[in-house]
Amino acid sequence: MSPRLCPVVRSSLIPLALALRLLAPAPVFADPPPSDGSSRAAAGAALYEKYCALCHGATAQGYAADNAPSLVTPQWLSSADDAFMVNSIALGRPDTAMAAYAKQAGGPLSDQEIADVVAFLRSRGPAYVAPQPHAPGSARKGAAIYSSSCASCHGDRSRRADAIHLANQTFLGLASDAFLYDGIARGRDGTPMKAYAGELDPEEIADVVAYLRSWSSGPPPALVRPRGGAAEGPMVVNPDGAAPEFTLRDQTYVPVDEVKRALDEGRRMILVDARVPSDWERERITGAISVPYYETAAVDRIPNDGTWVIAYCACPHHASGEVVTALRRRGYPHTAVLDEGVLVWKQRGYPMSGAAVASSAAGR
Ligand code: HEC
Ligand code: HEC
Repeated sequence: MSPRLCPVVRSSLIPLALALRLLAPAPVFADPPPSDGSSRAAAGAALYEKYCALCHGATAQGYAADNAPSLVTPQWLSSADDAFMVNSIALGRPDTAMAAYAKQAGGPLSDQEIADVVAFLRSRGPAYVAPQPHAPGSARKGAAIYSSSCASCHGDRSRRADAIHLANQTFLGLASDAFLYDGIARGRDGTPMKAYAGELDPEEIADVVAYLRSWSSGPPPALVRPRGGAAEGPMVVNPDGAAPEFTLRDQTYVPVDEVKRALDEGRRMILVDARVPSDWERERITGAISVPYYETAAVDRIPNDGTWVIAYCACPHHASGEVVTALRRRGYPHTAVLDEGVLVWKQRGYPMSGAAVASSAAGR
């Protein structure tokens, strides 16, 4: 089996901190319980391990999957306010691997749980100090600096490259100009983002900030749960079709084009979306069912009758790898990971369904 498939089925482990809290007798408080920052952080650590470590890494240093950024650099912790953190987690970053985790958006976390994860991250480094405002710059001048110095990592307005997509509207809606300026000037220790303070003068940094701001179309998209996309259809796609013939790379990965061809030929298969259900509700491969990477025991509802099961995610292998590992442990004979992931499927214009697809079709 490919070494990229993580052998740990995370969701089967009860986090220690949570288990201890469950075992402890319920305390009786005369007054409201103290909002103890360290127990909040401990609860947040357990949630982090279950939901976030897959991509952001066991110690939140980032880069475990899909170049998910560090969440513990001193520069990030000291310049990101709680609203930025909470809403980045709640709303996610549509069209990237970062899902919306808020319950209101169809994700798994309550407001309190998101606050606990933030308390955990806060416990890992320096306190927030509001970054200093700066004199406004020129977007026109900033455009030239951006394309020569930044686009190679951050992509352009419509395309993410390897680093955080700065054109994402949820990001731009949450990031203040001062936060952007500070991030460029001070960089992020231990990541590919260097400090530009020595290389660009303050006016030039302000110019780049003005250019990034010119991409912004207003406040972040509201935390509204999409409607109409939430009913799962039949589990098997093309139930009367013949089995597809896939050639798997490393015995695990099947290219998007092969899966599309098999669907066009009416082949029988089961498609599993391994992302957070909020992503599945927004936009999924047509016919896919939802089994999130942190609830892999839910694969038990998939019949073990030899039907091909193709799991996918955006990262593009990590979350789907968890699902395929769970299936193979249980002896499902024909399983694969969609190699390039759902974002490439979408780029190719292959069939997608869900609330976001329905609303963009209605807007056309
Ligand atoms: C499937 C992979 C994946 C998982 C799981 C994941 N993230 Fe992310 N996260 C990302 C990626 C990728 C980005 C960068 C998005 C972009 O390109 O703009 C990101 C961005 C973020 C950001 C914004 C950082 C910034 O500086 O802009 C925060 C905060 C964050 N994630 C927190 C979390 C938390 C907390 C969890 C768990 C509840 C989590 N993430 C789970 C992949 C993931
Ligand atoms: C070598 C690749 C690379 C280059 C070049 C680069 N960046 Fe970055 N940048 C990154 C990475 C990677 C991160 C995320 C770091 C982390 O893990 O916290 C980042 C983070 C940032 C952030 C912080 C975003 C956040 O939410 O925390 C901003 C703002 C930013 N870059 C702007 C720029 C600008 C503007 C330029 C050009 C002047 C630039 N970057 C050049 C790789 C790069």
